Amino acid sequence: MSPLRIPQADPGAGYRAHKAEIDAAVADALDSGWYILGKEVSAFEAEFAAFIAVGHGIGVANGTDALALALRALGIGQGDTVATVSHTAVATVAAVEMAGATPVLIDLEEEFFTMDPQAFEQAVLERPAEAPIRAVIPVHLYGQAADMERILAIARRHGIRVIEDCAQAHGATLGGRRLGSLGDVAAYSLYPTKNLGALGDGGIVTTDDATLAASLAALRQYGWRDRYVSDLVGVNSRLDEVQAALLRIRLRHLEEDNRRRQAIAAIYDEELAGCKTLRLPARRGGASHVFHQYVVRTAGRDELQQRLRAAGIGSNVHYPVPVHLQPAYRGRIAAGPGGLARSEEAARTVLSLPMFPQLTDVQAREVCDAVRQRR
Ligand SMILES: Cc1ncc(COP(=O)(O)O)c(C=O)c1O
Repeated sequence: MSPLRIPQADPGAGYRAHKAEIDAAVADALDSGWYILGKEVSAFEAEFAAFIAVGHGIGVANGTDALALALRALGIGQGDTVATVSHTAVATVAAVEMAGATPVLIDLEEEFFTMDPQAFEQAVLERPAEAPIRAVIPVHLYGQAADMERILAIARRHGIRVIEDCAQAHGATLGGRRLGSLGDVAAYSLYPTKNLGALGDGGIVTTDDATLAASLAALRQYGWRDRYVSDLVGVNSRLDEVQAALLRIRLRHLEEDNRRRQAIAAIYDEELAGCKTLRLPARRGGASHVFHQYVVRTAGRDELQQRLRAAGIGSNVHYPVPVHLQPAYRGRIAAGPGGLARSEEAARTVLSLPMFPQLTDVQAREVCDAVRQRR
């Protein structure tokens, strides 16, 4: 197969755009002789927490660990039920099970790709009294906020802890506040294609709660409070110095990168507005969408994807199989009382168009031309 003229994502282009700065930061980290949990990780944690406007950041090895450790730090594990969505990266649900807890999956809103608060509340109310939902993980999928106002209100009424899955929403806001500062704790992936991406794996947890932050700092490193003394049963999930050094550079460019993603989305919105067979991404009032993905819906998804590929244009399906239908999960993961019909519909119809800050306006319009072309 010939290489694509326009890829769907291009983390290498992100590196090349800031190569001199990143190379210098990496060289300094290498020269320092200190490679694990040193000054680069501490500085990145402080700078990222300040960016989100919370008190604490705790670097970890990846976004899945960030979620699992956030749950564990909240004391959620064996015997506890955690609500989240099925239309997400499988990692969200995997993390619940890694923490030892049991997921219950809630359907999407009609208009948005995020948890339906009404279905969440119904699930909360219909749980048996001896097995209540103890935590909820709303996923800010594709870069836009879940309906946090309603989810937080329901969670507060029922004493449910809130972990925001911000893996796809670095820098997005709702009501003027950064996502990740709204719940009890937030988890971010720093995988290379994310809006804030390392050049390898990485993750971070943020919280305003100092006690929780201390537990997280211990949990990520064998449960140590002091070196070699494990107060908790922890894991090894550390962000390394080299990744932290380059993440500090990328953080400085995050807002400009997000603005570029929004500009590309505006081109797609404008150029594709007339396509009767496409549903374009809806914008939530009061939210800034950082377009980790620009996702259209169409009944002819597979045909559109093939047509784009034939024109040398990459696209991707995030995600083709909802978690509850994945072979490893099918038949053993509970759905909320409303079922998961919208999640299944999303899996059949979504298509992510090329989206990365280095995509040019000309390329974005080329993508639109190819999308619009009828046989
Ligand atoms: C919504 C969501 N949650 C969690 C994760 C897990 O992150 P990681 O791949 O860094 O473990 C990802 C990334 O794939 C994600 O997109």
